[in-house]
Amino acid sequence: MSTTTTTTTKLVPTDLHFNLGALARIPPGEGKEFEIAGELIAVFRLRDGRVYAVQAKCPHREGALADGITGGGTVVCPMHSFKFDLATGAPLGHDCAALRTYAVSVNAVGEIILQL
Ligand code: FES
Repeated sequence: MSTTTTTTTKLVPTDLHFNLGALARIPPGEGKEFEIAGELIAVFRLRDGRVYAVQAKCPHREGALADGITGGGTVVCPMHSFKFDLATGAPLGHDCAALRTYAVSVNAVGEIILQL
């Protein structure tokens, strides 16, 4: 008589992609807030064509970063003017926590694809 051992592996998604719709919904130089899988994420469309995604709320006092001013790859929080690098989330010129960043791209038909 043989004994079979079965190992059960719970599949945990590690590579989730979300289509957030047309990039054209975000005017150049501005940001837009999305709620994705329970997370609030701000997606920015810079005037030079770059697209970034970071946590939506400022780590200082939860200012809405999507309403911030962008320029040179950075966003300035609308509440107290703390600046962050959009590519890395790093604080610039202050000691606030870094922003959480997300992988984001634009597909062949101009839709925003966010990866969690
Ligand atoms: S809430 Fe963003 S700088 Fe204060």
